[in-house]
Amino acid sequence: MASLELKGVRKAFGATPVLDDISLSIDAREFIAFLGPSGSGKSTLLRIIAGLETGDAGEVWLEGRRIDKLPPGDRGIAMVFQHYALYPHMSVRENMAFGLRNARVPRDEIERRIADAARVLEIDTMLDRKPAAMSGGQRQRVAIGRALVKQPSLFLLDEPLSNLDAALRLRTRVELAQLKQKVDASVIMVTHDQAEAMTLADRIIVMNDRRIQQIGPPMEIYNRPANVFVAQFVGSPAMTLAPARKVDGGEFASLQLGDGSLVETRVPASQLPGNGDLRLGLRPEAVRVGGRGKSTVKAKVELVERLGERTLVYARLKDGLAITADDEGDSKVKIGDEVPLRIDGALAHVFGPDGSGYHAVAA
Ligand SMILES: Nc1ncnc2c1ncn2[C@@H]1O[C@H](COP(=O)(O)OP(=O)(O)OP(=O)(O)O)[C@@H](O)[C@H]1O
Ligand SMILES: [Mg+2]
Repeated sequence: MASLELKGVRKAFGATPVLDDISLSIDAREFIAFLGPSGSGKSTLLRIIAGLETGDAGEVWLEGRRIDKLPPGDRGIAMVFQHYALYPHMSVRENMAFGLRNARVPRDEIERRIADAARVLEIDTMLDRKPAAMSGGQRQRVAIGRALVKQPSLFLLDEPLSNLDAALRLRTRVELAQLKQKVDASVIMVTHDQAEAMTLADRIIVMNDRRIQQIGPPMEIYNRPANVFVAQFVGSPAMTLAPARKVDGGEFASLQLGDGSLVETRVPASQLPGNGDLRLGLRPEAVRVGGRGKSTVKAKVELVERLGERTLVYARLKDGLAITADDEGDSKVKIGDEVPLRIDGALAHVFGPDGSGYHAVAA
């Protein structure tokens, strides 16, 4: 049985629609990331699931029970907010006990749940401290602990790591990944950080423009983006999109770029739309500095970004197209150089006139 199911959820604020026909189904114990740009409706959807906001249409089901008419407290859902706040005058233990006392959970049961959650979150030595005497990451864990003790069947985390500095964010991300192994609940985490979504989620739900753009495991989202939006939003640096023309030929599509060069993809030619403008999608790993041959283009280097294990080369083809290429960590390339770039057609994606993605079949 699906843990959470949304059917045709819609929401507008006044005349402005923010969610349009959202349907999805999440399995028990699945870790889901909602990934999308600011304003794409992620928090609003989470709040509708939690019952803090009412949808204009649609249904919300949790473990076979329709919950969209139930008050938040009766839904079996716990939420950690984008801007969470702990009670500063209460100890960690009191912060965690507060909601349970209000719900009239027996005292020894509260103690047991707090002890369990504190052990999982590794804050068991800090239960008598006040939040002010804790680091940002520790406070973050208390906020998660406060949700954990409710023993929800669904956890909603709205940008749980956004108010942490970069190093702490990375550490807490690892902790969340470990927590996921220990907790018997489904989790939906909102983020606009794709690295966070890629490392933590079983499946990513990419949102933009009021709608779900794609649902899938991280590597499927990366390798088979459903459309131009997903292709450009996921992956850093963004995929190069080159206007291209289909050249008549064999089983797989051959595309001609604006500078006249030809790229032989592994995308079945029969899948592509018959007419209209196409775009060739190239992640940096599909474009290597150096080489010769028919899929080699000439480019002028505009920026060299050394990342240690690899070097990203931002260059421009003679027709003006900006393209990002990969080179060795100790790349000799300098700004202003004219370099050959070899395009690996087997790694190329093709996008149709409506933005739909077409991908290589496995060799
Ligand atoms: N209570 C409200 N009244 C009016 N408009 C709202 C309200 N809440 C959200 N919105 C609008 O709805 C849209 C979606 O907002 P939402 O907070 O869900 O986005 P988000 O994806 O969580 O963005 P972020 O990444 O910035 O947190 C935005 O355009 C926002 O301005
Ligand atoms: Mg938000």
